[in-house]
Amino acid sequence: MRIMGIGGGAREHAIAWKLGLSDHKPEIFWIAENRNPGIHKICRDNQGELRTGRTTDAKTIVRSARGWGIDMVVVGPEEPGFHGIPDALEKEGIHCIGATQELSVIERSKADLRRLQWENNLPGKLLFRTFKNAREASDYIRKNIESQPWLQNIVIKPARQSGGKGVKLIEDRQVYLHDEKERFKEAYFDSLQASMAAYSDIEDKILVEEKAWGPEYSLQCFTDGKTVLGTPLVQDNKSAHEFDSGPETGGMGSISGPDMTLPFITREEYDKSLKIVEGIVESIQKKTGKSYHGMVGGQMMLTENEGPTVIEMYSRLGDPEALNMLAMLKTDIIDIFQAIVERQLSKLKLEFTSEDAVVVKVVAPNGYPEKRDKAKGHPVQVLETNIKRNGCYLFWGNADLHEDGQVITGGSRLLALMGTDHTLPPASARIEKTMSSVQLADGWGLYHRSDIGSQQLLAKRQDVAERVRPLYTYREEHGILGSRMGWVPRVGRIDPSHLMLQETHGPEKA
Ligand code: GLY
Repeated sequence: MRIMGIGGGAREHAIAWKLGLSDHKPEIFWIAENRNPGIHKICRDNQGELRTGRTTDAKTIVRSARGWGIDMVVVGPEEPGFHGIPDALEKEGIHCIGATQELSVIERSKADLRRLQWENNLPGKLLFRTFKNAREASDYIRKNIESQPWLQNIVIKPARQSGGKGVKLIEDRQVYLHDEKERFKEAYFDSLQASMAAYSDIEDKILVEEKAWGPEYSLQCFTDGKTVLGTPLVQDNKSAHEFDSGPETGGMGSISGPDMTLPFITREEYDKSLKIVEGIVESIQKKTGKSYHGMVGGQMMLTENEGPTVIEMYSRLGDPEALNMLAMLKTDIIDIFQAIVERQLSKLKLEFTSEDAVVVKVVAPNGYPEKRDKAKGHPVQVLETNIKRNGCYLFWGNADLHEDGQVITGGSRLLALMGTDHTLPPASARIEKTMSSVQLADGWGLYHRSDIGSQQLLAKRQDVAERVRPLYTYREEHGILGSRMGWVPRVGRIDPSHLMLQETHGPEKA
């Protein structure tokens, strides 16, 4: 069997690793924008090759797949799905594990995802409103902040998935009410507008959303359109620096295990989260009339108002979350992909190790995420034998293997180190012990988060969960889960849900 992967990050290196371990002994081919050293080696060791090319260009992908005689393609990142690569492959009769263009809208447009949730009255949603540009959003908030209390505590995001770029929180309502803060606000809105300028594939550019607070976790699933199979929960850590400080990144590391849940999420919360993801898959299939086959995930948060709540959806596996899940996966990955293609996922029993906790730490060059040009172009030195001797695994990310054998940084997340142990803190410590095995030869700095998987950070997550859980379970017991009744002076009690119906159906029908 000949299989081809798309994408050149650590998630794709981990997918290639599992393909290389399959009993089906596939020949492994790959298309990526960078020559990822790990994927390059796996392809070479499995009678295939890694070719560089644009992963969003259907012609390049289809031509390579046909040329190589590929039986099945697996898509790693989200952008190929957004650009219709699975659609193009399937038109050629090549099986593809990956959400098609229409279905991947659950990730591409955060506005369409929220509309889908409200239209179908699915649990785990947030109050929201969309705008064509940042200025329109700013004016609306200023005018309505007194009459719509939920606008007092909001997050303003690019409405399109943009790889974590541009997401900022404006939690201070004074920003909208006082002129002296105007300049700060204007600068922020300008940067938001600029981050969205590159995208012409969605109409709503800006999403204003109720701010939620609680512990976050990702639930990644496989689906053949009929069955959605959940995998172990993983928690990604998005902030660049220790204890959740610094700018938002694509993810600086993740934890999972030793079983299906996390130490701060219950089995019941897992089951509710899975139902939410199932509801979204079912609703988007109903809306488009298309069958979803591939990977799907909920980036979830336990919130006071809703319990398990969707922050964003993945139309793919998470990066770095995929590394944790694939490390725990015992079922042959090709058996899963074949069951997806044959729509037989209900007959497959997914098995995961329950003995090991898994910690992943991302290593990035200084400058990432805000000054990527400075983070780019540095020669990398890695002592792979030391990493192995410490029982850790290396997954290459945004790195480029040059003809002379030198690996060069690409400006984004360079690589991920993975450690396993019976519990999370020793797995984290194992990675710390081998961290000095990765350096840049020109002396440019690298950074990572030492706190991921540590007892202190776990205690912090547990504390947040223990504060949120009694609040949402109280609401559940009193039949008011999901209700957001607010009080407006001189108006009285208001239920903002009717505004959500206006947002989803238009004012005349609400
Ligand atoms: N872990 C963040 C992402 O995959 O988008």
